Amino acid sequence: MFPKITLKLATSLDGKIALANGQSEWVTSEASRAHGRYLRAENDAIAVGANTAEIDNPMLTTRVLGQSNPVRIVFDTTLRLDPESHLVTTTNETPTWVFTRAGTDAKANILREHGVVVHPVTDENGLSLTEALTIMGEYGIRSLLVEGGGTLIASFIRAGLYDTIHWYRAPVLLGGDGRDCVGALSLTNMGQVVRLHRMKFSEVGHDLHEVYVKAD
Ligand SMILES: NC(=O)c1ccc[n+]([C@@H]2O[C@H](COP(=O)([O-])OP(=O)(O)OC[C@H]3O[C@@H](n4cnc5c(N)ncnc54)[C@H](OP(=O)(O)O)[C@@H]3O)[C@@H](O)[C@H]2O)c1
Repeated sequence: MFPKITLKLATSLDGKIALANGQSEWVTSEASRAHGRYLRAENDAIAVGANTAEIDNPMLTTRVLGQSNPVRIVFDTTLRLDPESHLVTTTNETPTWVFTRAGTDAKANILREHGVVVHPVTDENGLSLTEALTIMGEYGIRSLLVEGGGTLIASFIRAGLYDTIHWYRAPVLLGGDGRDCVGALSLTNMGQVVRLHRMKFSEVGHDLHEVYVKAD
């Protein structure tokens, strides 16, 4: 059984998550980020793409008192994940899993020695999400929060693999050269547009928090 999938976007008003050079600290306010940490605590696992792991060197913990931390997952085809990164060096306190393609054995062994769980899946122009989700389900992961970046979010949206989108939107503009919160969807006609239904709308500090599901 696949986990329930939530996509989290933390963006500028113009839908950007980072500057062109990758800097993203911080687009949204502390209030939104605190809200987002509670969202993490509600999920069994959190996923990011290899670029986010490389550029942000994130911890991906909840920092919420009394809450356990979800499993941290990186989609990383060629195992670029730095053995010195926070995700690797703290894996004995909070588990880190990496989905990668077959044939990355030497690098996989280095990560495994640090305690990282490495799962090979098929590479089909991006790692197979359905294989990864099946493995998560087999290990008892019932809920997954996908935190970005835009390339990984777009893969989940293209495959229709999401239940809910939580969108934190700050009143700042990063401009057209910033990195998009949803990468390429390769749509060719308006009939393919991804239509959403807004379930909730509230203010978090100076930011907006919107919750969407797929439109019927
Ligand atoms: N504002 C925020 O809250 C926020 C949150 C997250 C990220 N960010 C920012 O977003 C930027 C990174 O975003 P990004 O779009 O460049 O990259 P990303 O989504 O973090 O990572 C994309 C990479 O993941 C790997 N990957 C493996 N399987 C994949 C699959 N099935 N689908 C998609 N990707 C897959 C690929 O790299 P390989 O081929 O090497 O495996 C791909 O290039 C950073 O600047 C970061 O700071 C901001």
